[in-house]
Amino acid sequence: MAIRKVEFGSLKDLFSEHIDVNDPRLKERAEKRNQAMEAMYNRQAIKNKIRLYQDKSLWEGAPLEFSVKDWQPDRRKHKGRAKELGNKAYKLAHEMVNNSFNVVMSGSAGVGKTSLALMMAKILQEHNKTVMFVSTDELMRLCSDQYDYPDAKAKLKDRIQYMDKADVLILDDLGAEAGSVEQVMSKNFRGVRRDMQTLIYNVASHRFEGTKEDQENATKEGAKLSHPVRSTIITTNNIQQELERIYNSRTISRLITMKPEHRLAFNDMEDMRKESDL
Ligand SMILES: Nc1ncnc2c1ncn2[C@@H]1O[C@H](COP(=O)(O)OP(=O)(O)OP(=O)(O)O)[C@@H](O)[C@H]1O
Ligand SMILES: [Mg+2]
Repeated sequence: MAIRKVEFGSLKDLFSEHIDVNDPRLKERAEKRNQAMEAMYNRQAIKNKIRLYQDKSLWEGAPLEFSVKDWQPDRRKHKGRAKELGNKAYKLAHEMVNNSFNVVMSGSAGVGKTSLALMMAKILQEHNKTVMFVSTDELMRLCSDQYDYPDAKAKLKDRIQYMDKADVLILDDLGAEAGSVEQVMSKNFRGVRRDMQTLIYNVASHRFEGTKEDQENATKEGAKLSHPVRSTIITTNNIQQELERIYNSRTISRLITMKPEHRLAFNDMEDMRKESDL
């Protein structure tokens, strides 16, 4: 089929059959349309970025999800306390949209720490924040597999880059990788394996002080970085002293906040898993 070449003049004639090309509002309308298109592309780009970080997460099994309506204080023995914890996590998630700070959720197994961390993740994603969930056990597995399997090594390198840069990183079950409390507190315990210690220290330091790139950009702009540069949410069954034995105080001080308003202690909460297993 022959293609007919259309000269600009004739294009104007062609359009003028359908629209008033001399309408003064035409330019304004075209500009509005371009702005709307640009906003749509930007929204899509942000959505893609959020999805990318979500996909880089390291889960122990299948990916998990938990939303605000899933938290049911009435199912707990200490309803008031459960309500308080849910409200605090909800409030902190909204504060985290525009501020960087660390949050720690501590308590024994099955009390709802991971659930509330996931609830915060969902709120933050809904507010255009990139969130990455990392099961510390899974990270440890990757760390030991890297010497035997080249693909594990490549995967680990890739994930670390995302762990450094996610707006919010959830490090789930920090300390579980070191074994039982008895082992951790035993006289001969020398901390978790060295490569894991280095890995976690580097991530903690990059998120707290900023990456080299963050620091260079700040210097260029004459800006001062406030710490932590990016937020990290930690869930753990261990107390501070144990975490410091597993890693060391330099790492732990960059990850575990001492600010009471950013600490969620799940003391007095019963194990929900036992209840649902009955
Ligand atoms: N208030 C609640 N409302 C609804 N479900 C809850 C609540 N608290 C806990 N659960 C459920 O109980 C189970 C255990 O919760 P979760 O995994 O969050 O505990 P955890 O504190 O992270 O435990 P662990 O230390 O073993 O990782 C999950 O299935 C979770 O959905
Ligand atoms: Mg958990």
